[in-house]
Amino acid sequence: MFWWCGCLGACADTCLFVSSMKVCRFFFPVPLKRSWTWRRKGLWFRLRKILLWLLALYIAIPFLVKLCPGIQAKLIFLNFVRVPYFIDLKKPQEQGLNHTYNYYLQPEEGVTIGVWHTVPAVLWKNAQGKDQVWYEDTLASNHPIILYLHGNAGTRGGDHRVALYKVLSSLGYHVVTFDYRGWGDSIGTPTEGGMTYDALHVFDWIKARSGYNPVYIWGHSLGTGVATNLVRRLCERETPPDALILESPFTNIREEAKSHPFSVVYRYFPGFDWFFLDPITSSGIKFANDENVKYISCSLLILHAEDDPIVPFHLGRKLYNIAAPSQSFRDFKVQFIPFHRDLGYRHKYIYKSPELPRILREFLGKSEHEHHELRH
Ligand SMILES: *[C@@H]1O[C@H](CO)[C@@H](O)[C@H](O)[C@H]1NC(C)=O
Repeated sequence: MFWWCGCLGACADTCLFVSSMKVCRFFFPVPLKRSWTWRRKGLWFRLRKILLWLLALYIAIPFLVKLCPGIQAKLIFLNFVRVPYFIDLKKPQEQGLNHTYNYYLQPEEGVTIGVWHTVPAVLWKNAQGKDQVWYEDTLASNHPIILYLHGNAGTRGGDHRVALYKVLSSLGYHVVTFDYRGWGDSIGTPTEGGMTYDALHVFDWIKARSGYNPVYIWGHSLGTGVATNLVRRLCERETPPDALILESPFTNIREEAKSHPFSVVYRYFPGFDWFFLDPITSSGIKFANDENVKYISCSLLILHAEDDPIVPFHLGRKLYNIAAPSQSFRDFKVQFIPFHRDLGYRHKYIYKSPELPRILREFLGKSEHEHHELRH
């Protein structure tokens, strides 16, 4: 498939080149010999040529995308973008996480995923020099656990992600996070189903060790799509998590792709949906948060900054408006917390909010309480 797309790309380049030459000659019928004199006076000529090239490219790209749906899939996952590049995922302590252990799990044959487990900050001194067995055992100690599902691009060691683990661990939570297959040092090819399966595997791994401790799922950005896929499956399996937290979520990938800054230049291109959105759907990528929430039964908290330039605020609000009246949440609370644009939290800085500890305490406090009642 990709080989074929490579060929197609090369052909397209050649065609573009040849046709743009023709187009140029048509508009500027200059014999080649004289082009030198033209060039001297012809700043305009060159400018026009560049503009024509850009125009040809602008028109060619939609066709390329349509013919190679894999391009869109790559743009959605962005797993090949590894920022910051020079970090050793085996050494979380280099990111200032002195109470984090790096594991590898194998969700299925040929797939290996790298996992970071950060224990609550109160345990940081005990954690020094401890091995995997100690870390796994702490999951049963009396602290709730957050399974964090990160968004596209980068790794589990991304700056804003590490900053959030620090906040959450200082609030007394375990944070378990991992790179989906194809991200960071995790091995495998990214697909929506594969990402969801990896998340399910890590959830089950936690559950097998966590005893009666609450387990919460936290998804950010594209990770909200994985989170609702996962939680829908967990609810259908009748093993729901204790709560679901969606940070900067969208409704579904089509609406998100349409609003993404990448597609601004094409938003009014005729046939935008057919050229750019249908290939996403035909690659089997849906991340249908708006569908999934109708099948989810657990407390739901949505966090969204009004000035989010990547996933627009109105998509988070729309998701809330779909979830809140849904029958599935009949016995659970659904809460939406907007962050004012003046705070400047944008797409990934909600962890900076001094309100976050209170918001989580108030929201999760109740879930924890319910959990204990169930136990007795
Ligand atoms: C280890 O991490 C904890 C919690 O984040 C922090 O309070 C402490 O100062 C760190 N210790 C060292 C030696 O870096």
